[in-house]
Amino acid sequence: MELRKINLADAAAQWEYTASLPADENGLTNPWHGVSYEEYAAKVLPLQLSYEHPVGMPDWFVPESYYYLWDGGRLIGEFRIRHHLTEALRKGAGHIGYSIRREERGRGFGTEGLRLTLEIARKIIPEDEIYLRVNRDNIASLRVMLHNGARLAGEDAEHFFLRIPKKKPEDA
Ligand SMILES: CC(C)(COP(=O)(O)OP(=O)(O)OC[C@H]1O[C@@H](n2cnc3c(N)ncnc32)[C@H](O)[C@@H]1OP(=O)(O)O)[C@@H](O)C(=O)NCCC(=O)NCCS
Repeated sequence: MELRKINLADAAAQWEYTASLPADENGLTNPWHGVSYEEYAAKVLPLQLSYEHPVGMPDWFVPESYYYLWDGGRLIGEFRIRHHLTEALRKGAGHIGYSIRREERGRGFGTEGLRLTLEIARKIIPEDEIYLRVNRDNIASLRVMLHNGARLAGEDAEHFFLRIPKKKPEDA
């Protein structure tokens, strides 16, 4: 299994995943649900690639990197890393968002994908903790986070807020 950064060579598989990912599932939003391959290749992929070094984006926009989880030749899921927090992200979606292909869920891919994503995030993120948010009824995602060392740091009516230390226990 490997995490591969979004790239031009994997365009067809990335498009298939992006187009079939729901527009909003458990708060994970995807404005490109149903996009055609032509539009993906011409507009969406260049835009997503640019998110890592944003140009001409509004002030609130934080650099964001897209990664895909691959198992052999099959794209299994998507992991997005926001490079630092703003007040809105601190109280909201946090640093990382992810999804796993529906038919591959419940097989450990979410847990392993977040583990691999944390390895990368730890090198990017300046904060001491990695912030995550999950809907209260999203037990699968909550378990993915807890399996990766997350602690409950807060809650509101709809969400739990979790944090994972940037330093791994063995490095402390
Ligand atoms: C959340 C998500 C990424 C989990 O991916 P996954 O590959 O199914 O995760 P795993 O296989 O590693 O499973 C994690 C845990 O959830 C449990 N789980 C999986 N599906 C479940 C379900 N429908 N109900 C309850 N528990 C479930 C698994 O049993 C496992 O628990 P365990 O290891 O303690 O037994 C996936 O369900 C998904 O893409 N959901 C839609 C998008 C989303 O919710 N993203 C997260 C937003 S915070």
